[in-house]
Amino acid sequence: MKNRVINIGIIGFGTVGAGTARILMKRHKELQAQLGVSLKVKNIADLDMKTDRGIKLPRGVLIKDAHKILNDPDIDIVVELMGGINPAKEFILEAIKKGKHVVTANKALLAEKGQEIFRAAKRQCVSVGFEASVAGSIPIIKIVRESLIGNKIGNIFGIINGTANYILTKMTEECVDFGSTLKEAQDLGYAEADPTFDIEGIDSAHKLAILAALAYGLPISLNKIYTQGITEITPLDIGFASEFGFKIKLLAIAKPSGKEVELRVHPTMVQESMPIANVNGVFNAIYVEGDATGAGLYYGKGAGDMPTGSAVVSDISDIARHIRAGAADRMQSFDISGRSGLKVKKMEDVSTCYYLRMSAIDKPGVLSKISGILGDNNISIESMIQKGRKREKAVSMVLMTHEAREKDMMKALKEIKKLRVVSGKPLYLRVEGAHA
Ligand code: NDP
Ligand code: HSE
Repeated sequence: MKNRVINIGIIGFGTVGAGTARILMKRHKELQAQLGVSLKVKNIADLDMKTDRGIKLPRGVLIKDAHKILNDPDIDIVVELMGGINPAKEFILEAIKKGKHVVTANKALLAEKGQEIFRAAKRQCVSVGFEASVAGSIPIIKIVRESLIGNKIGNIFGIINGTANYILTKMTEECVDFGSTLKEAQDLGYAEADPTFDIEGIDSAHKLAILAALAYGLPISLNKIYTQGITEITPLDIGFASEFGFKIKLLAIAKPSGKEVELRVHPTMVQESMPIANVNGVFNAIYVEGDATGAGLYYGKGAGDMPTGSAVVSDISDIARHIRAGAADRMQSFDISGRSGLKVKKMEDVSTCYYLRMSAIDKPGVLSKISGILGDNNISIESMIQKGRKREKAVSMVLMTHEAREKDMMKALKEIKKLRVVSGKPLYLRVEGAHA
C-alpha cells in the first residue's frame, strides 16, 4: 500500500485550479511522506489551453475535454474547480456515478443542488469534500462538522465574502470609490465569475446555507435566507458609522432560538470594539458559539488561489487517507436529513436595532414628524445626528434606534418616504453589538 498512487483529475484551471495544482506539485514529496500515498495530478481539463498560469505541467496533462477525466477508470478523485451550476453538476454526478470521489469549491452549486449531490454520493459510498466552499483557508467545515461535534451550536456571525470585505475595508481606510475597488478584487482573483454574487450578498448566502445546514441539521435552505448586498453603502455611511463607534461589515448571521433560526446576510453596523469589526481586506472571520466551548472566532484569508487551493488539498488529502485506510466513504456524511426540525424565521419577525440615514429639510417640526412615525410603529430612537445647518434645505439626518421588529421598521420607512420633507430613499442598516 505504501507506494499506492492516487490519481487526481482537476476540472477548471483558473484561479483555484492553478493554486491547487501548484500546491500539489510543490509539496508532492511532503504529502507522500505524510499520507503514505502518492498524489498524482493525471489530467487538468480547461477550455482555455493557451493562458500561461505560471505552472509547468508535464506534457499531456492539460486537456480540453473534462469527459476524458470522468471516463478514465484510473482517476480516483475528481476536483471540480470550474464553478457555475451546469455543466459542473453533471460532471460531479457523472464522477459520483462512476464511483469517483469528488472535491469541489463550488458553494453556489452546493447551496442550490447540494441535496441531490450528497444523496448521490451517499448511494455510491463516495466522498464529497467541500472545505474550500466556505471561507477559503479557514477550515470551518471541519471545525463545525468535526471539532465542535460535542456542542450545540448557537449564534454564528461570519464575514465570509473576501471581495465585499476587501471593498468595504478600502472604502473605510482609503475613501476610494466602489467601482475601482471591485476591479482590484477581480484582478486579485477574489471575485466570482459574476461579481454581483459578491457585492449583492449572494455568495455569502450560498456559504451561510452550507454552514447552517451543517451547524443546525437543517436542510440546505438558500431560498429562505434574507439577502442584501453592499451596493448602497456610501462613504457618508462609513463616516457616520464611525461617529457612532461602529464599522460596516457584510455579515452572514445565524441565530437559533426555540424552534426557529434566523438566517440573514446584510451590511451590518458592528461595534468597533468587537474583534469581527477589525477583520479587514480579503480576510474572513467566523464567530461560532458552542454550548461547551463558548465563543470562538476563526480567522484567515477567505479567497485567492493559494488560500483556497490549500483547502482543496486538505480535502484531497483526507480522501487519500481514507482510501488508504479502506474507509473512503467517511467524508460523505453531510447530514441532509433536516434532523433538527428547526424552521427558518421569517425576516419580518426578526428584531434588531437600526441605523437610518435620510435626507430631510432642515426646518422646525421635521424631526418630530419622523420620530412620530417611528413611535407610532413601536420604534424608539436611541440617538440622532444631523449634519450641517441649512435652513429650508436638505441635510443628512442619521438615527440609531433601540431594538425593533423588521415588520414595524419596514412600515415606518414606507410612511417616512411619503413625507414631503424627506427626499430620496432612506437607507437603513441593521446593527449588531454585544455578540459579534
Ligand atoms: P476561474 O474563472 O478563475 O476558473 C474557472 C476555470 O474553469 C476557467 O479557466 C474556465 O475556463 C474553466 N472552465 C469553465 N468551463 C469549463 C469546462 N466545461 N471544462 C473545463 N474547464 C472549464 O474561477 P475560480 O478559480 O475563481 O473559481 C472556481 C470555483 O472555486 C468556483 O466555484 C468559485 O466559486 C470557487 N471559489 C473561488 C475562490 C476564489 O478565491 N477565486 C475561493 C473559493 C471558492 P474559461 O475561462 O475558458 O471559461
Ligand atoms: N468570491 C469569493 C469571495 C471567493 O470573495 O469570498 C471565496 O469564496
